[in-house]
Amino acid sequence: MKLRARVLVLGGPNLDRLGRREPETYGKTTLAAIHASLTEASGMLGAAVECRQSNHEGVLIDWIGAAADDGFDAILINPGALTHTSYALYDALRGAEIPAVEVHLSHTDAREAFRRVSLTAPACIGRVAGFGPDSYLLGLEGLLGHLAARRRRR
Ligand code: DQA
Repeated sequence: MKLRARVLVLGGPNLDRLGRREPETYGKTTLAAIHASLTEASGMLGAAVECRQSNHEGVLIDWIGAAADDGFDAILINPGALTHTSYALYDALRGAEIPAVEVHLSHTDAREAFRRVSLTAPACIGRVAGFGPDSYLLGLEGLLGHLAARRRRR
């Protein structure tokens, strides 16, 4: 029996620049620091995360498509601006065969009009936005709760 849920954590375009990119909107925490706190929290929650980031849509799609075969149970994703533009990412998440949660640092619904549309959220079981780095932790907790409830039902 597999004991620990394995979660693939994905970040999209420009998230590698967190810490220096528009700190008034995204804060000063780097992506490496977010990944480190997710790794620590996942250990306490009985899960394991693998964190990756790419500025390239196709790379993210390849990772999502391979995730189930690579042994991941779920995906936590901040697609960055691809959230608002990418039907290809929507299709990839829909076809992934494992659940995904979308997270955002900023409160996208309270920003520019184009950010109020998420093409990817309908392919996810849930979405957390607006809590800075805590959005990732809240999303992870939601995802693990979902996996646990699903295991109990089986
Ligand atoms: C973001 C919100 C997106 O609209 C934006 O393009 C990003 C970051 C967030 O985490 O708040 O790159 O995904």
